[in-house]
Amino acid sequence: MLEQVARNGTAAEKENSNVYYPSADIADRAHVADWEAVAQEAQQDPPKFWAERAEELGWYQKWRTVLDDNDKPFYKWFVGGRTNIVHNAIDRHLQTFRKNKLAFIWQGEDGSEHSMSFFSLNREVSKFANVLKALGARKGDRVTIYMGRVLELPIAMLACAKIGAVHSVVYGGFSVEALHSRIEDSQSRILITCDGAFLNGKVVELKQIVDEALKRTAAVETVVVYKRTGKPVHMEEGRDYWWHELMALPIASPKCETEQMDAEDPLFLLYTSGTTGRPKALVHTHGGYSVGTYTTFKYVFDINDEDRYWCAADPGWITGHSYIVYAPLMNGATSVIYEGAPTFPYPDRWWRIVEKYGVTILYTAPTAIRGLMRFGEAWPNRCDLSSLRLLGSVGEPINPEAWRWYYKNIGKERCPIMDTWWQTETGMFMITPTPTVPLKPGSATRPFFTIQAEVLDDHGHPVPSNEEGYLVVTTPWPAMARTVYKDPDRYVDTYWSKYPGKYFTGDSARRDEDGYFWIIGRVDDVIKVSGYRLGTAEVESALVSHPAVAEAAAIGLPHEIKGNAIYTYVILRGGFEPTEKLAEELRQHVGTELGPIAKPEHIEFVPKLPKTRSGKIMRRLLKARAQGLPEGDISTLEE
Ligand code: PRX
Repeated sequence: MLEQVARNGTAAEKENSNVYYPSADIADRAHVADWEAVAQEAQQDPPKFWAERAEELGWYQKWRTVLDDNDKPFYKWFVGGRTNIVHNAIDRHLQTFRKNKLAFIWQGEDGSEHSMSFFSLNREVSKFANVLKALGARKGDRVTIYMGRVLELPIAMLACAKIGAVHSVVYGGFSVEALHSRIEDSQSRILITCDGAFLNGKVVELKQIVDEALKRTAAVETVVVYKRTGKPVHMEEGRDYWWHELMALPIASPKCETEQMDAEDPLFLLYTSGTTGRPKALVHTHGGYSVGTYTTFKYVFDINDEDRYWCAADPGWITGHSYIVYAPLMNGATSVIYEGAPTFPYPDRWWRIVEKYGVTILYTAPTAIRGLMRFGEAWPNRCDLSSLRLLGSVGEPINPEAWRWYYKNIGKERCPIMDTWWQTETGMFMITPTPTVPLKPGSATRPFFTIQAEVLDDHGHPVPSNEEGYLVVTTPWPAMARTVYKDPDRYVDTYWSKYPGKYFTGDSARRDEDGYFWIIGRVDDVIKVSGYRLGTAEVESALVSHPAVAEAAAIGLPHEIKGNAIYTYVILRGGFEPTEKLAEELRQHVGTELGPIAKPEHIEFVPKLPKTRSGKIMRRLLKARAQGLPEGDISTLEE
């Protein structure tokens, strides 16, 4: 119905609906002109759809089986195939005109700039790959990367992938304990970092955080430090080496063979917060992940060689892995990377970057849009944003108000907004429009080709249209995480046991009468703060690691700009007084242990926490009480 109006509807019909239809020039150039037709064909034979997409990439050896589902839920893709994501991200382009095309345009917060062609990227990646080999990194070894937003971050990731080492990037906004626990779990012997990072006109002392974290683990033997800020740092004799010094040695030869990997070999670990306990690492592979991210990027952002694409996320999260580093490079795209804060030195920094580099596609998070909206439209209006052609949104539901602001003031009512729903676990876009799909503000529209999603009640029955339920995915997809690192049982428990045979997303959603999905939010103990994913358990254990705290509970409550903010309830140990000063000290403590993004918005000292008879904190009840909502079923509450 929507499609029909899109194709044949009168101007008045389009105008009167709350639906946004693509303009003719968007439709004319789209890779997917007729969404319905492609969707239908893909649905008839999903492995065929993915095999055809995989044919567009380079393989050292072709796969025997597209999808092996003999050991559910441990699906395998492109079985028997041999490739390396770097072969597709870099090597292949060196044989084409893209060799001298820009891969990255980098803008430092302090005004410095640096651009890199595919040719130069290959050189830097090869050199660093040889450095890693000389430091003892071998195929399958884990390497932790903890850096600011510099070009050397993707270079380090690609160098690992090139030699078959498995990177584990820890977001540069995380702090001591978050870094330590991720190093410990992955048992990385090599760590790559920066002396510091520029953010908001200040220096984040990354190397100091590394030094602290390494006091808590013996796993790391070698640290490579990229010099970004030049502020003096401690360099541990025999452990720490400067990036630029290593890259100047004869070991850093610019010739390095790309390792031929099995399609199912691990490419990276990425830690993410879950419901309980320590963060878990999802494992992504060379083969299926390449095909899934390459394809979704091509179709959703309609990429071609004239584009200048900018994903304003951080490479340290899945959005950056898939859609700053790997998918754009595999598509031969030119990407902008900006180091710093959107408002430094003024709230027009982003719009200036769009203008300066002629950005055609801008991909960001609702929280950033809401944050910039606050400053009013005069800032974007002063910049020439006419190069933009498509916009994207990710990380949390986009409220219609922010959608319309983005659409009107940034996209100037010309640029469709690709609201992409997906997760660290899914590796690639799952529910998303392509540019010709009619849009409804706040809906990620429909599942990508071959993907089937449902909204279920507690018993596994589909709920009626427009009713809320649990979002599940019922078909496998190539970029799906293969397991939780070292913990396959946790993978099965977390994702595949609530509804056997179906992937449980942890989100709630509604589906409307047009089949459009409306994501509501997390139903577990994950809090999305400014689009960043944190676990209540992580915040609580950071609090409890302070000597004054006996017990703590963390919940997420709605926040106008951040989407959610962290509220915490703390029981003090005997002898500690509940003062404002102590509350501030605890906030700082969480900041130092976990990271500034995790600092609670509010700390309340309480004598008791509501618990079930089996001793579990009833966060649901805390949440209801804090918002003055009905308390629901409290029959399990202990006396
Ligand atoms: O709750 C959903 C929300 O982000 C969660 C996944 O977080 P993470 O693994 O950090 O990955 C974020 C970037 C892919 C989801 O379970 N989320 C992500 N995208 C959207 C979204 N919620 C609504 N709309 C989206 N477009």
